[in-house]
Amino acid sequence: MIIAVDGPVAAGKGTLARRLAEALDFAYLDTGSIYRAVAAKILAGNGNPEDRDLAIQAAEDLAAADLERSDLRREDVGQAASKVAANQAVREVLLAFQRRFAEHPPGGKTGAVLDGRDIGTVVCPAANVKLFLTASMEARALRRHKELLERGEESIYARVLQDLRERDARDSGRVTAPMKAADDAMRLDTSEMDADRVFATAMAEIARQGGPGS
Ligand code: DC
Repeated sequence: MIIAVDGPVAAGKGTLARRLAEALDFAYLDTGSIYRAVAAKILAGNGNPEDRDLAIQAAEDLAAADLERSDLRREDVGQAASKVAANQAVREVLLAFQRRFAEHPPGGKTGAVLDGRDIGTVVCPAANVKLFLTASMEARALRRHKELLERGEESIYARVLQDLRERDARDSGRVTAPMKAADDAMRLDTSEMDADRVFATAMAEIARQGGPGS
């Protein structure tokens, strides 16, 4: 069984996907971390994430250990990841890995939860359950701002808002696999919902689609 969780930055995808995987005993793949790992490698080598060939090389050289880098959650890495992700050849290189994970979840698990931007549309168009999370720009910026402060990082709300706008525009405006909800995805606006409610709503949808626990 494959569960796809898509949506923009800070809509609550990661929190939901992780909880679903734990509750269902499924494998979990944060596909954003793959793009982030490619970007982090480029930045660490003082390269330009918009350099097409450099990005392809970094994607081809990606190793499992790169997904464990400690700098993946940095804001500049997120911005660079969004630039790397606009590169069609990079997406193709990373596609096979994501599909393999979804179809043959590691650890002998019976299902997989993948979160990203194009899971329900491109990576796993036949996923059993597709969820597309959204939230207002302000709700998302505030969440991200608080998260950064809690991690002890510097954060200026206006700057976070600006960064989200830029990433949304790039992620949904790109030609290849733009961020968008699949026609058969359940859309959830999480602006006014806490994590528990988002989780309960998603579990009800999974049960409705005949998933475990139904
Ligand atoms: O979800 P995230 O913020 O960790 O993702 C970082 C960037 O990677 C995001 O701006 C767009 C890109 N991405 C993508 O294009 N497709 C995915 N399936 C996941 C992430």
